[in-house]
Amino acid sequence: MKIIEVQDQVVGGQVGRQIFEKALVDGAQVFGLATGSTPVSIYDELIRKKLDFSDKISINLDEYVGLAGTDSQSYQFFMQKHLFDQRPFAVSYIPNGQATDLLAEVTRYEAIIDAYPIDLQLLGLGANGHIGFNEPGTAFTSLTHEVNLTASTISANARFFANPADVPRAAISMGIGSILKAQQILLVAYGTAKADAVKAMIEGPMTEAVPASSLQMHANVIVLIDTAAAAKLQDRNDIKRL
Ligand code: F6R
Repeated sequence: MKIIEVQDQVVGGQVGRQIFEKALVDGAQVFGLATGSTPVSIYDELIRKKLDFSDKISINLDEYVGLAGTDSQSYQFFMQKHLFDQRPFAVSYIPNGQATDLLAEVTRYEAIIDAYPIDLQLLGLGANGHIGFNEPGTAFTSLTHEVNLTASTISANARFFANPADVPRAAISMGIGSILKAQQILLVAYGTAKADAVKAMIEGPMTEAVPASSLQMHANVIVLIDTAAAAKLQDRNDIKRL
């Protein structure tokens, strides 16, 4: 893993954007994208620098089950707001959370990933080491699948919804095996809350108890972290500081 440390997520946004720029120069056609707070400063930079994705394909990691793309809590809505409205792709794939046949939907989605191999996959990191919606214990070989959200995730999400009954109980997520198919992976993590997960991902054993530790088996991973998220790393020799 190549590790890059930056002072904060503003600089992280610039460095992340440079990695996207290099991928474009190198001919990348398909970009794997993530939601959550972490990618926002990168998306802001892609917009600010007017990077052109109009003939490229994007494939998002995950989506809640049961939400329409127009719902402000859906990941489709998030992507429109934070990137696609300003920097559209030729085609953008996000799992269909409203599919009536979820098994058919996860099969369809994995076929998309196989048909359009991802050149650069952007990932955030959960404080418990999750990537996508792949929580601890998910098989490293997992493909796109339906995930039943844990009680703690459901209650954490409840603050975004007027009615607790509207909080999604499930999601569709690329599996760890789907993620590892990408040619290059850029994992980004900021803040003290991520420091333990960063350490476990890089310096811990490769174990399904830490989904992100699966990245140790991938040949082309960049980990972009701020100083707070890097704080618990013991081996600091290989860290490039920008
Ligand atoms: C988002 C996703 C999640 C987040 C992770 C970190 O599409 O799949 O794995 O990347 O939960 O979230 P933030 O960036 O909000 O800390």
